[in-house]
Amino acid sequence: MPKQANTVFLCQNCGYESRKWLGKCPECGEWNSLVEERVVTTKKGAGRNGFRVREAKAIAYTEIESQDDKRISSGVTEFDRVLGGGIVPGTLVLLGGDPGIGKSTLLLQVADKLSGTGATVLYISGEESERQIKLRGERLRIAAPNLLLLPETNLENILREVDRIKPAAIIVDSIQTTCSSEIESAPGSISQIREVAAQFLLLAKTRGVPVFLIGHVTKEGSIAGPRALEHIVDTVLYFEGERHHNHRIVRATKNRFGAANEVGVFEMTNSGLTAVANPSQMFLAERPADAAGSVVTACMEGTRPVLVEIQALVSSSKYGTGRRMTQGVDQNRVALMIAMLEKRAGLQLLGDDVFVNIAGGLDVDEPAVDLGLVTAIASSFRNQPIDAHTAVFGEVGLTGEVRGATQASVRAREAQALGFKKIVMPSSNTTGLEKLLGLRVVGVRSVDEALSELF
Ligand code: TYD
Ligand code: MG
Repeated sequence: MPKQANTVFLCQNCGYESRKWLGKCPECGEWNSLVEERVVTTKKGAGRNGFRVREAKAIAYTEIESQDDKRISSGVTEFDRVLGGGIVPGTLVLLGGDPGIGKSTLLLQVADKLSGTGATVLYISGEESERQIKLRGERLRIAAPNLLLLPETNLENILREVDRIKPAAIIVDSIQTTCSSEIESAPGSISQIREVAAQFLLLAKTRGVPVFLIGHVTKEGSIAGPRALEHIVDTVLYFEGERHHNHRIVRATKNRFGAANEVGVFEMTNSGLTAVANPSQMFLAERPADAAGSVVTACMEGTRPVLVEIQALVSSSKYGTGRRMTQGVDQNRVALMIAMLEKRAGLQLLGDDVFVNIAGGLDVDEPAVDLGLVTAIASSFRNQPIDAHTAVFGEVGLTGEVRGATQASVRAREAQALGFKKIVMPSSNTTGLEKLLGLRVVGVRSVDEALSELF
């Protein structure tokens, strides 16, 4: 068989490169995700990814200017927050999310606000015509005096137009529809996406303009996933939750210029996304009163404390062994907590189905939710409600011990601010919290102590 030296197999999910076809990607574990693509031939005088090779020169640390004071506000408070306090000039931001969740809407609103400050904003759309964007703009009631629309998918044409217009900010909707004619792979393939991202990175860095790339994430992996771009871009934002909720959560999963895991909370209304100033209040708004299996826990989302309701439902299984299903929390973590409850607290859950849900569509993945999980499950198991004005938090170990959590006082103060009367938390964290007005702080060392405090 003749050897084809100039093609490789690329995983369309994570970008893993292989010389031969494999059924399963060894990097990310996706099945059937490797597709044969032509290798990008680098041009003369250009390095990998088309970067111009410059002479290398070291610079003294003290001579480098600080960038932080140069952040520009996007005009959307929650968007500024996820970015770490505004837009840093010259950053490449990837905004990912399921189709229809609101990516175009959010960035069109940002474009509107930015252009209102006098900056020229270029909105490149390969997905919608200018009429469609205008239609959305009218729903959003945007004025956008300096907003320019460019319905185009060809990268070279886009770069030429950028050269001509010299915009102060660029939005690319979406990276999957943009393709370079210098690469033979199909639009949306890993090679194309990488090339397009690399070109926009170069543009962002050399011109010092912020570039926002929209990327679709599909579970089927039919379109090359933005995950393959995460290491190229400076900041990765993802829309969390589902379309069927009214609120939308944007999380920074990576940020070179701010705290990772920061979240922005929005509400989708008839006139676009509006920032939610107090997320705790929103997440607790529809909380049932005195229902067994519901407990409020204080978690940290980036630098901000957020109170959320954990709901658990324990019901006897029709089959021998119970199912464990979760939404918003790690299923393995819940399984671990259930095993711990069986062994240390004597709750017989083996034959029961256990469902756990974080109300409001937030994903929480910090260990401090453990105590919330445990108490919600115990509450449903015993069919005994937990007092509505009590909040809990703390990490739980395998021996049933309650361990300290980070930012304990910030969490307790958020509970106090929302009118909670009692907080059950790790005893190692309680120092200095005795004098919180109106909030009784109860330190516990073990799950047993926590359960006897609550029931
Ligand atoms: P969109 O931004 O087009 O999603 P994406 O770019 O992520 O695919 O958002 C589309 C959804 O948002 C659609 O279901 C309608 C809804 N929507 C509103 O509810 N209000 C609005 O003002 C707008 C513009 C959209
Ligand atoms: Mg869109």
